[in-house]
Amino acid sequence: DKVLRVGIAGLGTVGASVARLLGAQAKDLAARTGRAIRIAGVSARDPGRDRGVDLSGAAFFADPVALARSEDIDVFVELIGGEEGAARASVTAALQAGKSVVTANKALLAKHGLELAQLAEQTHAALAFEASVAGGIPIVKTLREGLAGNSVARVYGILNGTCNYILSRMELEGLSFAECLADAQKLGYAEADPTFDIGGFDTAHKLAILASLAFGVKLDADNISIEGIQDISLADIKAAAELGFRIKLLGVAQRTEHGVEQRVHPTMAPLSSPIAQVMGVTNAVTVDADAVNELTLVGPGAGGMATASAVVADIADIARGIRSAPFGLPVAHLAAAEKSPMQRHEGG
Ligand code: NDP
Ligand code: HSE
Repeated sequence: DKVLRVGIAGLGTVGASVARLLGAQAKDLAARTGRAIRIAGVSARDPGRDRGVDLSGAAFFADPVALARSEDIDVFVELIGGEEGAARASVTAALQAGKSVVTANKALLAKHGLELAQLAEQTHAALAFEASVAGGIPIVKTLREGLAGNSVARVYGILNGTCNYILSRMELEGLSFAECLADAQKLGYAEADPTFDIGGFDTAHKLAILASLAFGVKLDADNISIEGIQDISLADIKAAAELGFRIKLLGVAQRTEHGVEQRVHPTMAPLSSPIAQVMGVTNAVTVDADAVNELTLVGPGAGGMATASAVVADIADIARGIRSAPFGLPVAHLAAAEKSPMQRHEGG
């Protein structure tokens, strides 16, 4: 069949934007992939809510697991969120049924990515997650395919749009942390529980995915040293600026003689440095690698349409018949790979 039938579970900020983008780009996507892409089924908690997009042609499933198993879909797109519950159950069910999965769920991948990749390999399904790291920036494909000829020494950057938005607005507009966070939530940038953003956990989830892609290490967010921005005050930001610095929350993964070290913490970036110029919801990821030397991608790190851009790119790959090894290497290699060494805060 020429038509690729898509099931979308989760119709919130990202899910509704994916539906909109698939509609708006339908002609071009069909031309590019050689297949029409149709939303055949959707799932959300509230069946009656207006999502601002016409979904009348799609069957509604109260249970995302039923959508994942439906005979009427070819690809299951998980945009519910959370590392357990409906997200994990439905992604697992889809892969078990041999259906390709697209997800933006970094929490799920950081915790269960290996197990899900194993399942995908067994059933010859695609497991695609471009949207899980840095929103609209295609860093997953860049590391996995684009830089396959390199040995990566370090990958680091601003990986959380909410935190960068908060820090930027506090500095530029003198607003309180709470006001900026509330705005990030209104704009759909923040996680359902924003502690994941401001506590640095979301950055750690993304860093674990990047480290696995860059270095072939096991996904292991639990071993990442994490410090968030929750205690950063306007006074801290002003003091840093007076000294010629800007505070940025960074995720850093680098090869060392002890293995791959991964850490998340606020950093004082000199005002003249490129990373200090990255403001608002924008993310930036820099890769230090032997053949390309240094490469930086900068772009929108969160938000409905930017994230939908990455989700739709993954759907287009599946329509074209592209099925990459999720983390860029056979799962047996990943399963046998080292975990990163335990990271500790020096001096507590
Ligand atoms: P939202 O909270 O806006 O949307 C979540 C959706 O999931 C809602 O439509 C909700 O239904 C639905 N849902 C929740 N529980 C269930 C369930 N048990 N069964 C069926 N549907 C359910 O989240 P986002 O769109 O912001 O995020 C979705 C995913 O994308 C998350 O994994 C997030 O981390 C990730 N992500 C988000 C980005 C962003 O900028 N927002 C960027 C990159 C990744 P209802 O609407 O009826 O309540
Ligand atoms: N809450 C996340 C962020 C969404 O602010 O970066 C994008 O992954």
